[in-house]
Amino acid sequence: MDFKSIIAHCKEYGFIFQSSDIYDGLSAVYDYGPNGVELKNNIKKYWWRSMVQMHENIVGIDAAIFMHPKTWKASGHVDAFNDPLVDNKDSKKRYRADVLIEDYIAKIEAKNNKDVEKAKKKFDNFDETMFRSTNGRIIERQTKITQISKRMADAMTAGDMAEMKQIIVDLDIACPISGSKNWTDVRQFNLMFSTQLGNIAGEEDKLYLRPETAQGIFVNFLNVQKSTRQKLPFGIAQIGKAFRNEIVARQFIFRMREFEQMEMQFFVQPGTEMKWYEYWKETRLKWHQSLGTPSEKLRFHDHDNLAHYANAAADIQFEFPFGFKELEGIHSRTDFDLKAHQELSGKKLQYFDPDKNENYVPYVVETSIGCDRMFLAVLSNALQEETIPDSKGNDSTRTVLKIPPTLAPVKCAILPLLKNKPELTSKAREVFESLKGSFNCQYEEKDAIGKRYRRQDAIGTPYCVTIDFDTLEDGSVTLRDRDSLNQTRINIDDLKGVLFNKLMD
Ligand code: GAP
Repeated sequence: MDFKSIIAHCKEYGFIFQSSDIYDGLSAVYDYGPNGVELKNNIKKYWWRSMVQMHENIVGIDAAIFMHPKTWKASGHVDAFNDPLVDNKDSKKRYRADVLIEDYIAKIEAKNNKDVEKAKKKFDNFDETMFRSTNGRIIERQTKITQISKRMADAMTAGDMAEMKQIIVDLDIACPISGSKNWTDVRQFNLMFSTQLGNIAGEEDKLYLRPETAQGIFVNFLNVQKSTRQKLPFGIAQIGKAFRNEIVARQFIFRMREFEQMEMQFFVQPGTEMKWYEYWKETRLKWHQSLGTPSEKLRFHDHDNLAHYANAAADIQFEFPFGFKELEGIHSRTDFDLKAHQELSGKKLQYFDPDKNENYVPYVVETSIGCDRMFLAVLSNALQEETIPDSKGNDSTRTVLKIPPTLAPVKCAILPLLKNKPELTSKAREVFESLKGSFNCQYEEKDAIGKRYRRQDAIGTPYCVTIDFDTLEDGSVTLRDRDSLNQTRINIDDLKGVLFNKLMD
């Protein structure tokens, strides 16, 4: 489904609303509606279960959003958490210089993909890898992409903003609004939001809204290790809000100013970090596949331009409706953060290794995924328009959200066949009452049964239970499967057990 239709679906079915909608909205800030909050909570539960519950050596915390201002000095965010910005003098629009260059690269990539698609249609037994490595035009464009990417990565690593401007000029990049190439110099802009503690406004009292949840884990490293007696390697996981004053805030919930992260810092012996880095890359990729995301929609992207704390980093990219983009990051953060906090706080953040009988600062491998981005990935992967036969055997279309049952906002809808038959509605209410303590269920009686099925399909409800006149005779109900559309008769007494088995699959 195209991106515009996904956004419209989110509003219509109570998944996501623009924040402060009645005041014309607040840019890049969103609210989750009744179905959205259920889906988002289910994503968080699934992540927590697989990271914390399934690993004896990973424990969770919930740290505060506000932290001592020195935290952000030590972590490098005060000095280095910047985006390179450039203004177009004619349109007065502000852009991220790196995004302008990435968009330019994406256009070249799109040309290559177009050529591949054309060739695919032309030849039987088409070998894409062979085609990409032998076709002259594709090789030429790919070389250009590699050169531009390297030049930008070098400029970003060196903090060389004059070179960033020069790349834009050399590539002849024009403002997408005005078409003009009249650019200002590129400047660095810090992404942290600040506020102050108490009523005294001064630099020392300046607080930041955390731009990542990770630092709450680092400063608690010894508190957690000592209170849980964990031995290396072990991890600390956290889910929580993060805030960034994103300049190019667009693409719906892909890039927000207030968002939620699910992060895990894995503390390891120095020298073993690359082994764990590879382990977590693979483990996290499998996690995405376990949720039914097709492998061809996922890929690794190794970072050329490493953050100030990392010695290796890769993204898991997902093919969003606007192309392959970062969904999750896996970073080998060395001992940068713990050492920096140790230095600035004057407190030791070392692990006593009983096997080696020595103290040292552990290295860290981090997995970091945006909950909202995961939400968008799940939705864009699962939302489909489908042609199915209607009750008379004619073709009809339905919008269906084919999400795994474990993520579905509503697990089961209880539907009396007719609204104005008290014997049916009271029986349906009885069934609803018997199930609602076990699963998130919905009772619905308004509109014809077909329309109610469509509404449940649109929010991804895997099962509908219909109560009809036969139910009153023999105690059986119809169980409808969202994906196969199969309808089976089962006894009310067996319903909870059957649903339980199906939903646990
Ligand atoms: N602790 C490491 C860290 O924060 P990051 O790559 O800046 O690394 C991690 O962010 C993840 O957080 C990203 O992969 C993305 O899923 C999510 N994320 C980052 N910025 C975001 C934003 N403005 N809106 C929504 N999600 C964001």
